[in-house]
Amino acid sequence: MGTLPELRGKVALVTGASRGIGRACAELLAQAGMTVYACARSEEALQALAAACPGVLPYPLDLRDEDAVRALASDLGAAHGKLDLLVNNAGILGPRAALDATGADALRNVLEINVVGAFNVLSACYPVLKAADDARVINLSSSVGRKGRAQWGAYSISKFALEGLSEIAADELGNDAIVVTLNPGGTATDMRAEAYPDEDPTTLPSAQAVAQTILLLARQLRPQHNGGRFSARSLFELAAREPKTPVALPQD
Ligand SMILES: NC(=O)c1ccc[n+]([C@@H]2O[C@H](COP(=O)([O-])OP(=O)(O)OC[C@H]3O[C@@H](n4cnc5c(N)ncnc54)[C@H](OP(=O)(O)O)[C@@H]3O)[C@@H](O)[C@H]2O)c1
Repeated sequence: MGTLPELRGKVALVTGASRGIGRACAELLAQAGMTVYACARSEEALQALAAACPGVLPYPLDLRDEDAVRALASDLGAAHGKLDLLVNNAGILGPRAALDATGADALRNVLEINVVGAFNVLSACYPVLKAADDARVINLSSSVGRKGRAQWGAYSISKFALEGLSEIAADELGNDAIVVTLNPGGTATDMRAEAYPDEDPTTLPSAQAVAQTILLLARQLRPQHNGGRFSARSLFELAAREPKTPVALPQD
């Protein structure tokens, strides 16, 4: 029976932490004893999160701003010398439209946040991830990033690109980090309500339930999982049990 890495005292960066899955994740990781850098554009929401949750450090920025993202990685490196966990979660939905009704500007806008933003964070964090003993990177993907579906054009294209970004980083970081993607599945957040305005959110898993699967991965990912694809739905039961020793993780 092996042991699990201790999260207490370690450093995490969560993007898109002003609401939804990112906020719930930042909260849970801080409760587990991590120092959590919380990023998003909404400064007020980040301040409120930090006030409610000791261990959360608000770091407002727009992920499209490469210089601001580099400054974050550099500040984090100066303060801690390393980054143990990156949760690349921020994203936007964009238009739910067929390809011929999307338009290149709308596509560019989605790619700029969901792909270039994620690229900015991941690439700027390479040095601090390499400086950690066993870093983990969890990139939030989607079912439509693994199989294309009508009317999901721009968002789906961006999540396919994110899956590719994740695979490349997994190969490049090799022994330095374990890099995976997680498909949260339909989750009761603002983004889901934007995609399905008529849906009853109480029928969906909560952002907190998805955050628990991120905590599970943070504790349980091992080198053989590098480059892997996970789905929150397959992890809910395990995550709720909060296993204290290594367990087998179902992959997609
Ligand atoms: N909810 C679902 O059903 C579902 C399903 C599949 C996949 N996902 C994925 O899961 C992740 C989280 O989704 P969610 O539902 O929690 O979304 P959400 O509630 O809409 O939150 C998105 C987060 O991203 C941040 N963000 C957006 N643009 C940004 C930018 N330019 N710079 C910095 N931060 C930015 C937002 O903060 P600001 O607006 O304050 O910047 C917010 O904190 C996303 O990657 C999404 O694609 C969600």
